[in-house]
Amino acid sequence: MSTLPSEILLYDLHPSAADIRSDVLDGLARRPKQLPSKYFYDARGSELFERICQLPEYYLTRAELALMHTHAPAMGAALGRRALLLEYGSGSGAKTDLLLQHLPEVAAYVPVEISRSALTASVAHLSERFADIPMLPVCADFTQPITLPEPARRAARTIIYFPGSTIGNFNTDQAVRLLTQMRRTMGRNGAALIGVDLVKSPQRIEAAYNDAAGVTAEFTLNLLARLNRELEADFDLGAFRHRARYHPERERIETCIVSRCAQDVRVCGHRVHFAAGEAMRVELSCKYSSESFAHIAERAGLTVSHVWMDAEGLFSVQCLRPAGTPG
Ligand code: TRP
Repeated sequence: MSTLPSEILLYDLHPSAADIRSDVLDGLARRPKQLPSKYFYDARGSELFERICQLPEYYLTRAELALMHTHAPAMGAALGRRALLLEYGSGSGAKTDLLLQHLPEVAAYVPVEISRSALTASVAHLSERFADIPMLPVCADFTQPITLPEPARRAARTIIYFPGSTIGNFNTDQAVRLLTQMRRTMGRNGAALIGVDLVKSPQRIEAAYNDAAGVTAEFTLNLLARLNRELEADFDLGAFRHRARYHPERERIETCIVSRCAQDVRVCGHRVHFAAGEAMRVELSCKYSSESFAHIAERAGLTVSHVWMDAEGLFSVQCLRPAGTPG
């Protein structure tokens, strides 16, 4: 396990056991049942997710890293000097490394990440690589309102970095709400840099979420292992399976955990029944076109000022600014 250098303080707003309990019981009471995907990312989940990012079928991370390699200098120039870089769901920080190399005179780097282990490891690494950049890590759920730490150096602007197509893990209304919250946080002269996965052939998308080695299945079922540990649940992992299907009419892939048989499970003292074949939704990953993404940005009062895209049109990194400001 990594530890942070002593001068870096971690602001710990990690969801409490009570938050997890009420979110999970709420989700299990819905029809169809649903579990919140943010709880995938315990230490084991973050580790498995890093393995997903390296799978041959999971084109997203490779495509986004390639875009960062090629275009980070142009992104840095477009974003400007003395920025406070606020990152949501920072994960391993590999893409951030490429961005930080090209952002001039960064005032502070503030990663917000729900996985304490992923946050500590990435900040330990980045603070060694960029010793001059003050780092203020926050362990929190970025969808909740959070009071951010104040940097010692005055920043000229706030830049929000939101890579990994995590924006796709929200439905349209939630994504508009999140983008609206970002617009308020960035202020008039700020910007957001967002990694957005693009609509493509259903086969290619389904393969990315159903890898042959079974890492994604292990990742989704790890959520049940976490609930067993943290909520005194007794899910039998062998009695459930992973399923991910693309819905072309909704342009999104839905990941479910499916019960292999009729069974009862205990969760925090409650008995929860599953029918044979019953599917519980655990994640959705929306895919966008340039037009559909510009449309949700517009609903949030933002304008797309730059789009970087690979030649195959697999993935995009998009720069958004408050509508009515010069790009
Ligand atoms: N943001 C990632 C995505 O939507 C998260 C992810 C990748 C994921 N693979 C997954 C979530 C499998 C659930 C299941 O691509």
